[in-house]
Amino acid sequence: MKKVLITGGAGYIASHTNIELLKGEHELVLIDNFINSSAEALERVQELSGRSITFIKVDLLDSAALDSVFVQHPTIDSVIHFAALKAVGESVEKPLDYYTNNITGSLNLYSAMKKHDVRKIVFSSSATVYGDPDEIPVKEDAPIRATNPYGHTKAMMEQILMDTAKAEDWSVALLRYFNPVGAHDSGQIGEDPNYPNNLLPFVSQVAAGIREKVVIFGDDWDTPDGTGVRDYIHVTDLAKAHVKSLEKLANSSGIHIYNIGTGRGYSVLEMVKAFSEACGHKIPYEIGPRREGDIAEVTGNPAKAKTELGWQAELGLNEMVESAWKWQSQNPHGYNS
Ligand SMILES: NC(=O)c1ccc[n+]([C@@H]2O[C@H](COP(=O)([O-])OP(=O)(O)OC[C@H]3O[C@@H](n4cnc5c(N)ncnc54)[C@H](O)[C@@H]3O)[C@@H](O)[C@H]2O)c1
Repeated sequence: MKKVLITGGAGYIASHTNIELLKGEHELVLIDNFINSSAEALERVQELSGRSITFIKVDLLDSAALDSVFVQHPTIDSVIHFAALKAVGESVEKPLDYYTNNITGSLNLYSAMKKHDVRKIVFSSSATVYGDPDEIPVKEDAPIRATNPYGHTKAMMEQILMDTAKAEDWSVALLRYFNPVGAHDSGQIGEDPNYPNNLLPFVSQVAAGIREKVVIFGDDWDTPDGTGVRDYIHVTDLAKAHVKSLEKLANSSGIHIYNIGTGRGYSVLEMVKAFSEACGHKIPYEIGPRREGDIAEVTGNPAKAKTELGWQAELGLNEMVESAWKWQSQNPHGYNS
């Protein structure tokens, strides 16, 4: 069994990835400081998988605690690095919090990996590093043009890993996620944000009557129905991309960059309509002004991941909204329900 360290192990994407990893030959060591997650997620992952996981409460900013994780678990073979702060708007208001948490936390992690000779890492990057790309669906060799502090932290963390892979002979996968949505098909684990910054968790809470209405930021974009278009990816498909990435890193060193999306875009209105059908009632919405810095459309070309990882998205829009609604309706207040 290969031992994998998962940072941010109690978070939304990590929880789904843990389930997929536990189906195979992986033993997991999870660390998290619960700044945006709950211990209940760990309980549910263990229940659903029928396997136990090792959890250690660690803040990545605490380099001594991080070091002791590697000392306690000398057979850690690879790392999946999810831990980060991730709200774009908040990053504009509190850039230093974001740079400190994401960059210093990552530097501490990479230094501990170097010290303990762990050379394989899958990194949670984001399509946000492309900014407003010249061509869509965007390919991995497009210029990096992040437009906000959160995106800058992702671009910087990518760069640090690229330089380290070269100098230290590491195997690195940079996964640029598009827009992860949906939940585990049991409805037992899902996204449980303190405040819903992304579209689907917001729509879910409106559908559940927790919030009054969805505000759509502009309907005058250059898109078929005037609302913004994004490439949404089911979180279970995204989770499976991590399993494939670990397999890839077992046999090849260097840096491997992949878009993880479907290549297909849906507009905000299409998402709201699909969600209305899933939950069986109309979701109230109103059109508001555009948000500063927003863009009309971003989709990703996932062909490289298909060729090199043997991964492609299998779940479509219905599975995304139906699973999101199942999670929301079974857990109206997330893990505290
Ligand atoms: N969800 C998205 O839309 C999206 C899109 C692209 C990329 N990503 C990236 O994927 C990763 C996971 O995202 P998610 O949606 O699961 O977010 P999440 O907030 O649910 O998970 C992140 C986890 O990291 C933990 N964490 C944060 N800072 C920490 C620290 N200093 N020490 C220890 N733990 C810490 C949080 O408590 C949380 O459990 C993040 O790096 C995020 O930037 C997410």
